[in-house]
Formats: sequence, C-alpha cells, structure tokens
Amino acid sequence: MKINVWSYKDEYKSIRKKILKEVDKVFSSGQLILGENVKSLESNFSKYLKLKYGIGVNSGTDAIQIALMSAKIGKGDEVITVPNTAVPTVSAIVSCGAKPVFVDINKNDYLIDVNKIEKAINKKTKAIIPVNLYGQCADYDKILTIAKKNKLLVIEDCAQSVGSFYNNKPSGSFGHISAFSFYPSKNLGAYGDGGFIGTSIKSYAQRASQLRRYGMKEFYYSEEHGINSRLDEVQAAIINLKLRMLKTWIKQRREIAETYNKLLKDTSLVLPKENKKNFHSYYVYVVQHPRRKYIINKLEKNNIYCNISYPFSIHLMRGYSFLKYQRGDFPITEKLSKRIFSLPMYPQLKHSMVLKIVKCLKKIA
Ligand SMILES: Cc1ncc(COP(=O)(O)O)c(C=O)c1O
Repeated sequence: MKINVWSYKDEYKSIRKKILKEVDKVFSSGQLILGENVKSLESNFSKYLKLKYGIGVNSGTDAIQIALMSAKIGKGDEVITVPNTAVPTVSAIVSCGAKPVFVDINKNDYLIDVNKIEKAINKKTKAIIPVNLYGQCADYDKILTIAKKNKLLVIEDCAQSVGSFYNNKPSGSFGHISAFSFYPSKNLGAYGDGGFIGTSIKSYAQRASQLRRYGMKEFYYSEEHGINSRLDEVQAAIINLKLRMLKTWIKQRREIAETYNKLLKDTSLVLPKENKKNFHSYYVYVVQHPRRKYIINKLEKNNIYCNISYPFSIHLMRGYSFLKYQRGDFPITEKLSKRIFSLPMYPQLKHSMVLKIVKCLKKIA
C-alpha cells in the first residue's frame, strides 16, 4: 500500500458526514461568499489565537500581501525574510511593490537566524516576516526586541504553524499582524484555498477587511485600491468544523513525531530538535541526510513517498534573479536545501505505516 507524505483522504473518511452536512447548509443558505460562516470563523479563530480581529481571505499568499498593504508597505520599502521558505512569502512582498531582503537560517531549526537580522536593516526596512516553518515558531523574544528598537513591523508567516505555541502562546499572537494559510495540506486545511489575517490592531484589521474586497467598505464604492481575496462560505464552514478537532490532530502529529524520534535515533539521519520555548506542531517532519536522493529513491521503491521543502533556495531562483543575490550569499540555506527532506506526516497516518517507514529507513540510513 502506498504511503504518501500527506493525504487528506483518511481525514475525509472520518468526518465525511459532518463536512457534507456543512456544505449542504451553505448551499441551501443563499449566501456563498463572505457570509455568516466567514464571520463566525473570524470570531472563532481569532479567539483561538488570542487576537482581537480576524479577516478571512482567499489564500495564505493573499494574507501576507494584504497584511503588508494594510500597513502601507510598498514601493521603496524593504521587508526582511528568509530564503528557505515557500515562494509565496516572497512573492507576496514583491506583489505589494516592496523588496524582499533575505537573512540566512539557523542550521538546527531552519528558522531565521536572529543574530543576522540587524545587519540587514537599513533606512528602507519597514518590516520583518519571520516564517514559522515546519510547525515551529521563530525566536520572537529576540525578534520583537529588534523590531521595537528599529521601529519595524513584525508580520508572522504562520502558514505552517497553526497549532504551534511559543512561550505557551499561540503562533500568530506575537507579530503586529499574522498571516495564515488554509491550503488543504496545512494543519488546519480547507477543502480548497483559504487564508486568514489575524491582528489586535484595529486600523490594520479595518484596512485588511476592505483591501480583500477591492478596497470597499460599502458595496460598489472603493475607498482605496484593493484586490479580490474573499473567503468562501464552504471553506469557512469546513474550517470552523475542523477547528474543533485541531487539538486532537496536533496531538496525533506529535505522537507520530515521538515515534520517529525514538525509533530513528540510532540512524544516520539528523532528526528535528525541539527547543524549550517551542511547542512543535509537526506540520512536517524534516530530517537531514547527505545521501538524500538515495534514501528517497529506496523509500519510493517500498511505496513510501517523501517531500522536500525546500529543494531550491529562493535567492537562487530565476524568478527572483532581479534581486541580484548570488550563490554563497546564504550558505546555511544553500547547504540544507541539498540535504533536507520530510517523512510522511499527517494525523491519520497509521502506527503500522510509521513502523513500516522506520523499518525501511533503518536498513538504509
Ligand atoms: C510558509 C508559507 N507561506 C505562505 C504560504 C502561502 O499559502 P497559500 O498556499 O495558501 O497561498 C505557504 C503555503 O504554501 C507557506 O507554506
């Protein structure tokens, strides 16, 4: 039997009736976009995040772009982030007219190296987007101190960190604004695209909610240039339903990670390290090995499929060559992009499957 790195199918089997009931309610309601379900998600999820306001949008990419736009960050501004992230973190910065400026990552947790942030700050710098990668939070104790000292905005990219905590506070509750993705594979995934902006700052919330709808407060009158990034009712209803199960599903992810940690500790794989401040939600379980290709191929021969996030460092991609970075600019990211890969991880992954993966890995790594 094929073991995928991720699959929503077992989840769907377990909650199919509930999902279809929600979908039917929406289709019968007469309101398909930005209705009661979106409102209730905005209230429920912002409460979960311990934030005052929430705005449902169409994707995590839009959430970052609108967050930047709501803080009036654009042409002539620089935004600090990492080259080891999903392309959308960077594309959102470019879409709002600003320039992404990269800072390398730590070799242990793959997150922004806070000791390198200040060197990247200049007069044009307006914001830092720390990416809470793989299910962990960046080092906000230090990031917030640097941001305060340099009067910078902090926008958390929480696409991969729903259900993660730092110093016992939810991921997304540290920055001035936080951006979430409900892409299906995420810890809180929709059955289509979706995203969310969280903040406790009223002015950002008000602007974000206008910017997602062509800059309109009232229909047919634009207060300012905006975009179309509405969250639809079906996705909001499903996310509302799934939010109730999030805690259990994160627990299941952590149990799988614990099994991997315990049973793979004597292999030559470098396993994830959890630091004391972080409650890791294991969106993905990332390991390192110098012979990555060999291991992935062997696993595939046994019907086990891994993923690499990310095999290419953004500063070296053709699409971002206009930023004029060169090979060697971010050595840790570049080195790790050749070694990292992620093992199958999703809440419904059966223990027997985890044991099969471990058994295969023990023979080859
Ligand atoms: C770190 C990160 N940021 C942003 C995004 C963008 O989210 P979406 O795919 O919902 O636009 C993703 C998801 O791919 C992501 O993993």
